[in-house]
Amino acid sequence: MASSPLFNSFLPKPTTAAPSPPSTSLSFSAKYVPFTAITSSSDSSPTAESYSLDEIVYRSRTGGLLDVQHDMAALKQFDGQYWRSLFDSRVGKTTWPYGSGVWSKKEWVLPEISDDDIVSAFEGNTNLFWAERFGKVHLDVYDLWVKHCGISHTGSFKDLGMTVLVSQVNRLRKMKRPLVGVGCASTGDTSAALSAYCAAANIPSIVFLPANKISMAQLVQPIANGAFVLSIDTDFDGCMKLIRQVTSELPIYLANSLNSLRLEGQKTAAIEILQQFDWEVPDWVIVPGGNLGNIYAFYKGFNMCQELGLVDRIPRLVCAQAANANPLYLYYKSGWQEFQPVRASTTFASAIQIGDPVSIDRAVFALKNSNGIVEEATEEELMDAMALADSTGMFICPHTGVALTALTKLRKSGIIGPTDRTVVVSTAHGLKFTQSKIDYHSRQIKDMSCRLANPPVQVKSDFGAVMDVLKNYLDSRAS
Ligand SMILES: Cc1ncc(COP(=O)(O)O)c(C=O)c1O
Repeated sequence: MASSPLFNSFLPKPTTAAPSPPSTSLSFSAKYVPFTAITSSSDSSPTAESYSLDEIVYRSRTGGLLDVQHDMAALKQFDGQYWRSLFDSRVGKTTWPYGSGVWSKKEWVLPEISDDDIVSAFEGNTNLFWAERFGKVHLDVYDLWVKHCGISHTGSFKDLGMTVLVSQVNRLRKMKRPLVGVGCASTGDTSAALSAYCAAANIPSIVFLPANKISMAQLVQPIANGAFVLSIDTDFDGCMKLIRQVTSELPIYLANSLNSLRLEGQKTAAIEILQQFDWEVPDWVIVPGGNLGNIYAFYKGFNMCQELGLVDRIPRLVCAQAANANPLYLYYKSGWQEFQPVRASTTFASAIQIGDPVSIDRAVFALKNSNGIVEEATEEELMDAMALADSTGMFICPHTGVALTALTKLRKSGIIGPTDRTVVVSTAHGLKFTQSKIDYHSRQIKDMSCRLANPPVQVKSDFGAVMDVLKNYLDSRAS
């Protein structure tokens, strides 16, 4: 069991000198392999099918997922203490590109890219917030943390993956590969990140968005960043199908998380959590899931840290889904019998309104190998959880409300214990989803009691009237 957060903060830090970085990161390498080569770990022979990261390839020969495989033997030439000290020595620096939480782990991400090709907004290094009041008062958990991945350049964790993908595209274009732009289907956040990083590197970006299914704040981001925006009369799954057809016809690089490069950046959030706990491993990490790339990215980050000796175990992972878009939850509940895509219904957690997740196999692998759990949240549960968390000083997005609902349920059933160190991953900034909060607090949601609504009190511009209202309020707080 991890020690209490308070106790931790008073522990003396070991005074190890920062190691010098490996003489050149070119001694490390990575390549694409079929995802099945990762899952069949009993087979230690090198996979026959592999591709350079400089090739433009998204699927294996049989049409399956790909994964980025690092040369682990080369990384293992250095021990866990070496990597811990190296990563720690880079935090908070402005030295290019290590000021980024992603590129401070460059040797584990894209070891062969030149620093000059990297497109970065110094993403990552996000706040790991001790949710003391929310945990103690509302859940009887004493070691609860929220990893605010949404306090980032474009307001979501997507920046972590997009810096990697766009950097690689930048490199390919400099190598004169015929790429006219980068495209994605999006439930909002991917397009925001893609368009920002592409704009920074002067690369055209093309985004397919489901019409009327994303928030205004999300829609305005790619528009402002100069992307070519197609608002298509379908849902995310429909947009995904179209972008895959388009990118197989035109030299447009596919930026969806089908593309395993993105997950290399996203996995650094897991490494960062360990680093922020001085390399102590939390008991639980709860991640909201839609297309299901991120839950695998977390697994991959934790697993690499264990394999390379930075830590000796990994946390149990929980994937939290909206009940209105819950194909993974249903699959898990069936005892992993048979996967059935669903038609996702409207959810306030709009970025995870996905019925046919591309990374289903990745998610199942991550959950099975981390003794993981899948939970779900109804609309009322996720909105109440968001409102409750906000009332303790957070300002979270509805997806984080889904994750907090999963925590609440697992705490109630006793699966998560009161002193378990638990991290809830907050995937986007609450300011991107203000309309859902406005609807909730003005009780504008059909069939929802909005029991924690806190609407403003209308009062006349009159001292007596203001005093009456205030006295009532103070009396109600005192009782
Ligand atoms: C805010 C937010 N949370 C969660 C997710 C889910 O991530 P994944 O699709 O990798 O499961 C997304 C992805 O679109 C997102 O934008």
